[in-house]
Amino acid sequence: MSGGQTIARDSSVAVPFTRLDFSDPDLLEELMGTVRAVAERGAFTLGEHVEGFESEFAAYCETDFAIGVSSGTEALVLALRALEIGPGDEVIVPTNSFIATAEAVSAVGATPRLVDVDPDSHLITAEIVAANLTPAVRCVIPVHLFGAIAELDPILAIAHEAGIHVVEDACQAHGARYRGRRAGSLGVIGCFSFYPTKNLGAWGDGGAVVTDVPELAERIRLLRAHGERPRYHHRIVGTTARLDALQAAVLRRKLARLDGWNEQRRRLGSTLRERLGAIQSDAPGDRAIEVTGLPFAEADHVYHLFVVRTEQRDELRRHLSERGIASAIHYPEPIHLTEAYAHLGLGPGSLPVSERLSKQICSLPLFPSMTDAELEQIATAVLAFTQDDPADLR
Ligand SMILES: Cc1ncc(COP(=O)(O)O)c(C=O)c1O
Repeated sequence: MSGGQTIARDSSVAVPFTRLDFSDPDLLEELMGTVRAVAERGAFTLGEHVEGFESEFAAYCETDFAIGVSSGTEALVLALRALEIGPGDEVIVPTNSFIATAEAVSAVGATPRLVDVDPDSHLITAEIVAANLTPAVRCVIPVHLFGAIAELDPILAIAHEAGIHVVEDACQAHGARYRGRRAGSLGVIGCFSFYPTKNLGAWGDGGAVVTDVPELAERIRLLRAHGERPRYHHRIVGTTARLDALQAAVLRRKLARLDGWNEQRRRLGSTLRERLGAIQSDAPGDRAIEVTGLPFAEADHVYHLFVVRTEQRDELRRHLSERGIASAIHYPEPIHLTEAYAHLGLGPGSLPVSERLSKQICSLPLFPSMTDAELEQIATAVLAFTQDDPADLR
């Protein structure tokens, strides 16, 4: 989810798509105090809060280093630059992702090799990676889409064998675990976004890169601030891609709450999964609703998004909207069919699973402060949809 949208209070909506910090008066007060303190000191770039957040986020992700950057997209760009991926190189990217995953590859002059996904989990798999290796491929970016951790060990094994890097796009999966280890800590580099609606969201744009490799951490630190060290001494050609101190200060406060919020998301997500899973088989014909599957049996999921699929997606969204329940689509176009990536020449039919999913998917509301009553309203509305007679549709 990106763009200049405002997520406002809307009293006509029974269940909003998400709820931001303004709905928690205590948190809002605390964060306003934090912002004021930063403003009063006039310390807006790097410094205490950025360094503090970096060491706290590294500890949280169980990595040796975290580097605060200006967005998730920039995290991916700097990761690829640090790995010296550029013109002539290919990077495997699932076409079923937010466009930023591919944009980062294009930004460094490399070519995204867009690939399809598993029809049930909607995620990339080791088989898909193996089938798409070419001599030009230097890296794969598994995306833990929706907050579900991809099955990484087989991907890491194939990448190791092929001598290519694994950069995790963990922009939707802060805090998720893979067989005990944190999302972002398994590939050579992990990338995070702190876009306001993410599980860990800033009050604006922000991102982070995590790694255990000191040389990569050092290079990314230089790249994000003009290759500068010390002041006005420029070692490499970098850019302006720092995490703002204001954002770092906000994120430090929120990081302390992240595990609790994720626990809430997990609880709500599995309850909704059970409620909807129980009704899917009863639905007549193409009104059946399927909840997106987990990539493997014991996979962790931090429910950044709760995604279902149905043949009658637009009717489902209309039905929910009539009952005051918000919904969204992540994403209406797979990357290869966007106008931006038409030049790759992957027309309709080339990556059929993602193309089909893009017409069937619907994201239901799910956020940590959702009440059981709100969850019940969603489950009841979806149940009513599956039981409506399709002949009644107008
Ligand atoms: C999967 C994924 N990758 C990358 C990004 C890019 O992050 P940002 O919007 O912070 O640049 C996002 C979020 O917007 C995302 O969801």
